[in-house]
Amino acid sequence: MRVVILENASDIAVQAGNIFVELLTDKPNAVLGLATGATPVPTYKYLIDCYKQGKVSFKDAVSFNLDEYVGLDRNNVNSYYYFMMENLFNHVDMRKDKVHVPNGVAENLEEECARYDAMIEEHGGIDVQLLGIGTNGHIGFNEPSDAFSDGTYITDLAQSTIESNKIYFTNGDMPTKAITMGIGSIMKAKKIILIATGISKAKAIKAMIEGEVTPACPASILQKHDDAVIFLDKDAASLLA
Ligand code: F6R
Repeated sequence: MRVVILENASDIAVQAGNIFVELLTDKPNAVLGLATGATPVPTYKYLIDCYKQGKVSFKDAVSFNLDEYVGLDRNNVNSYYYFMMENLFNHVDMRKDKVHVPNGVAENLEEECARYDAMIEEHGGIDVQLLGIGTNGHIGFNEPSDAFSDGTYITDLAQSTIESNKIYFTNGDMPTKAITMGIGSIMKAKKIILIATGISKAKAIKAMIEGEVTPACPASILQKHDDAVIFLDKDAASLLA
């Protein structure tokens, strides 16, 4: 795992964004693994700027997002599908039929999980996976537990995740379950970029980088990935030795 400490969130957005720009330049039909949350928003803004300046195109790309709340359909303003449209895809030339986010209202959620993993495989796997990290060390919605998960599955959200994310739910209760790519699915990505900013992430970052590899800190598994790069601002890196 390569750790890069940068001055601020804008520098992270440029570095992380440029990895996607280079990927799409070399391989226009690349398979992008994307995340939601507050942290990637500057990266998506940077990518939109690059698109507007003619430096990148998404027209042949395919995307798979990490997760979705169970019970929210894609038109719900709090759904992660909606988030991706608002924060990236509505502003670039991505084909909407190439955007994949797990379906949180599928009639059969188990089948949806299997379908999602199969679709990623059919597309040849994820080329670059962008990740954030929860204050509890989660990646995707893989919460701390006794064992690393494998493929996409339905998970109960940790209390700390509910506390962090419920501020976004001004018009309805926050779901307590999500459908998420598992640790096994995430680790199959050819390259992984994890980005973290702010002091609230410092403890999780220390555990991820300097702690043992344990499902108690799901992000620690990235120590075992061959091509994982971690971009941190000074606050997120502040507890590192
Ligand atoms: C989002 C996701 C989560 C977030 C994490 C950090 O798709 O999978 O793991 O990356 O909860 O969220 P923020 O960036 O809002 O602090």
